[in-house]
Amino acid sequence: MRRVLVVGSGGREHAIAWKLRQSPRLGELFVAPGNGGTAAIATNLDVKLGDIEGMVRAAKEHRVDLVVVGPEAPLAAGLADRLEAEGIAVFGPREEGARIEASKGWAKGLMARHGIPHARSAVFTSRLDARDYVASLPGVPVVKADGLAGGKGSFVCETKEEALAVIDQLMQEGALGEAGRTVVIEERLTGREVSAHAFTDGRTVVPMPFACDYKRALDGDEGPNTGGMGAYSPALWLDEATERFIHEQVTEATVRALAAEGVSYRGVIYPGLMVTADGPRVLEYNCRFGDPETQVLLPRLKSDLLDILWATANGRLHEAAVEWSTDACVGVVMASGGYPDEYRTGFPIYGLGAVEGEVLVFHAGTALREDGTVVTAGGRVLTVVALAPTLAEARAKAYRAVQHIHFSRAHYRRDIAAPSQDAVLG
Ligand code: AMP
Ligand code: GLY
Repeated sequence: MRRVLVVGSGGREHAIAWKLRQSPRLGELFVAPGNGGTAAIATNLDVKLGDIEGMVRAAKEHRVDLVVVGPEAPLAAGLADRLEAEGIAVFGPREEGARIEASKGWAKGLMARHGIPHARSAVFTSRLDARDYVASLPGVPVVKADGLAGGKGSFVCETKEEALAVIDQLMQEGALGEAGRTVVIEERLTGREVSAHAFTDGRTVVPMPFACDYKRALDGDEGPNTGGMGAYSPALWLDEATERFIHEQVTEATVRALAAEGVSYRGVIYPGLMVTADGPRVLEYNCRFGDPETQVLLPRLKSDLLDILWATANGRLHEAAVEWSTDACVGVVMASGGYPDEYRTGFPIYGLGAVEGEVLVFHAGTALREDGTVVTAGGRVLTVVALAPTLAEARAKAYRAVQHIHFSRAHYRRDIAAPSQDAVLG
């Protein structure tokens, strides 16, 4: 029986904990810091996400066999390195592997050195050089902070003036701190975005199904970027040849590139791609599961997640069985009104018990009060997830469940997995 600690507090971590619970080999399950949903299926540990030594202490104190790291920040801060040094197995790359997400410039270099298709870009540490470069371009580029910015580091600008202003904000005014002192200036691509997750132990690569997320706050992809307002899987609009191309020329090529450069890597590799008229291009890499993609991927996993994560962490992924359901899955995020800007919390959530079977509610910004009431405690509050034979049925089921859940000022998008003019979702 394995004792497992999941690090994080979002919908992604609730989904991971929920799936791990199904394993007959799971002993005790801890989540740090967790949320109101994980409290019901695991023991939440009161350790701050940024407290690397606190996490290591908690893992040792609770005699944890495996740590599964949800978010990127602790990985980039070396949590995996510290745990391995203590002899604890960890699912998630070491600091050097997490650079693939933590430094967009480094990731671009890796792709360039190994012929992995990506959006053309240049990296700048000098503000004036960055401004000159933008002025010299024929079109308006995307400006990105090099470092981690919690999903807020990419600026898709409409005019050159806007792009120049972003450069000044990042490089002169330090709007994102150190993360933005180096910028990546990238050609703007058009197409559809897809998330390509895979498990890897640095040698074996096992792709997960494709998923798509919705980053903008409002229907029709309007409004500001958020941590993600919904997701669906599979991506039936992708043809088989493109899927194979992504698996071989992007995901597997990336793992081979990391190995060739001597970077050990165990965990999830997740390139975010734009599928353009000229083929797929990597926009960015993530070194962990996506949120909210995980909430629509793990319900489709038929195999034992603990076995897969344990095998990956121990460099034996080739031994793991990884099977997926053909069912479709749709997840709708219910957020606090105002998110991603200012919002209020502390509102009771009603109707959580009223959702029909086969609908899953993964918590993110929730807290469990002593009297048993679940209240809102963050921007993204819940992901309501439904599984069904088709995307249309899954979508209808997820939205029916959303109608039963109420809290003050709830906001959600109405168009998650909705068929759009330019694409057949299936
Ligand atoms: P990222 O932080 O790199 O994932 O970017 C956040 C979002 O900005 C992406 O999901 C895209 O919608 C958009 N984006 C990023 N890079 C580009 C690009 N080169 N061209 C067009 N849109 C982009
Ligand atoms: N869903 C986007 C991300 O997890 O980065």
